[in-house]
Amino acid sequence: MKIITGNPGTGKHTIAKLISRKLNLEIIDINKIAISEGVFVKNNGTLDVDVSKLKKIINKMNSKDSLLVGHLAPYVISSKNVELSVVLRKSPYKLQSIYKKRKYTSKKSLENIGSEILGIIYHDTVQEFGRKKTFQIDISSKSISATAKKVKSIFKGSKIEDNVDWLQLVLKKGDMQKFFPY
Ligand SMILES: Nc1ncnc2c1ncn2[C@@H]1O[C@H](COP(=O)(O)OP(=O)(O)O)[C@@H](O)[C@H]1O
Ligand SMILES: [Mg+2]
Repeated sequence: MKIITGNPGTGKHTIAKLISRKLNLEIIDINKIAISEGVFVKNNGTLDVDVSKLKKIINKMNSKDSLLVGHLAPYVISSKNVELSVVLRKSPYKLQSIYKKRKYTSKKSLENIGSEILGIIYHDTVQEFGRKKTFQIDISSKSISATAKKVKSIFKGSKIEDNVDWLQLVLKKGDMQKFFPY
């Protein structure tokens, strides 16, 4: 399986749609599978995805012609089933405006921006699938078509990826308190 992951709003679904058409891959949308299979656990009154149940289901769907898409990717597929994974990264300042448009609560917005600044999904993807199978792309100043092209080339064997260090950027701008208020 090929993987596209990254925090909400980084462009996963936009890019997956384009790529899947060009490379003839079948999209497996993690969130949709979780809903259709009803794999949720209660957590303080909210519903969280039951990742261990979901992992069993998704591993069974493994195929070389599928493209797994979702922020939970590092937690729901075994490394042995992963050919290559791309982590989309986006500047916390750009994410902030996307989350505003999506009307995320400030808690949800801060959680996801914090995760992006610290690079948690990238870290976990490298941890789970290995450094050699994981590539990150900073889409902040790329067009959709340039991003799709870059992802496609990675899936075809290119090893060129971007350097991302949001922590340095946020520190330099003096915005740590703003993004990590507690
Ligand atoms: N280079 C880019 N690649 C992908 N999406 C982009 C890019 N630049 C801007 N966007 C926009 O980012 C927004 C979030 O994209 P979306 O695919 O919904 O993200 P996700 O599926 O990760 O939540 C969309 O409005 C999309 O048009
Ligand atoms: Mg999406």
